[in-house]
Amino acid sequence: MIRNIALTATAALALSAGAALAAGGAAEITDYAFAHEGPFGKFDQNQLQRGLQVYTEVCAACHGLQYVPIRSLSDPGGPEMPEDQIRAYATQFSVTDAETGESRDGVPTDHFPMSGMEGAPDLSLMTKARAGFNGPYGTGISQFFKGIGGAEYTYSILTHYTEEEPACAPDGVDGFYYNSAFPNGGVPDSCKDENGVSTVPGSWIAMPNPLSDDLVTYADGTPATVSNMSADVTSFLVWAAEPKMMARKEAGFKAVIFLIVLSTLLYLTNKKLWANVKGKKIA
Ligand code: HEC
Repeated sequence: MIRNIALTATAALALSAGAALAAGGAAEITDYAFAHEGPFGKFDQNQLQRGLQVYTEVCAACHGLQYVPIRSLSDPGGPEMPEDQIRAYATQFSVTDAETGESRDGVPTDHFPMSGMEGAPDLSLMTKARAGFNGPYGTGISQFFKGIGGAEYTYSILTHYTEEEPACAPDGVDGFYYNSAFPNGGVPDSCKDENGVSTVPGSWIAMPNPLSDDLVTYADGTPATVSNMSADVTSFLVWAAEPKMMARKEAGFKAVIFLIVLSTLLYLTNKKLWANVKGKKIA
């Protein structure tokens, strides 16, 4: 009962805080529980492979991944694709050979291409460059347990397009698309109050809504909903920005266990060394 009341109170607080933020035009970022988050989190290999598929079939039309070597798709802790599949995958990209200057099919040692569309940013480091739900700021405790939030941001951008334009700008903004999670961009004057503060959450983005239900067909039978595709491609982009995350977490764990054992031994040694001295009672 008490727990219920506490939960309701927390929910009410959270809701009113959300409403206050929305009124100020803040972007709506959804918290999403990704498999890789938290100290014990691990990338879901199947999800990374589905994300690669969404990136390749949808996002790659405009966005590049120029800092990611194609061969890293087989690295442990990533999508872990077999080498022959990667070799076949690489051939779809056309690369200008650095030595001959001629165009040839891609090979695993090439990197993914650069962005093909002017104005579409490279996505290699995007999930680390953007702050979302927990942000890169603060004490670090919440980031440790929930991740730094760039994943939530990317996920939210992909899921916060609306069918209709907001009532304050029924005809939209030329060349831009309303997205309630996008914090930048120009808000038309009709959507600002007398102090110039935006009255709508989010803003207008130059990227048209790239996803719609069943846009891709997943081989493993996962329903290709906008939400699933967004989570899959986001998780893939988190891996692209931090391919060694699993190795890093593992090393961190070993270090923590080592320190616990070392501290225990030092404590016991200290006790034993001083036992003679500390045991004596001064009369
Ligand atoms: C038709 C071309 C096009 C496609 C397809 C596309 N994008 Fe974009 N994207 C853009 C453009 C243009 C921008 C720059 C938007 C701006 O700054 O207003 C952008 C921006 C972004 C941003 C950065 C937003 C920011 O904070 O600056 C992310 C993240 C992103 N796209 C992810 C994706 C993902 C993931 C996909 C695939 C599901 C995708 N995009 C498909 C054109 C595209």
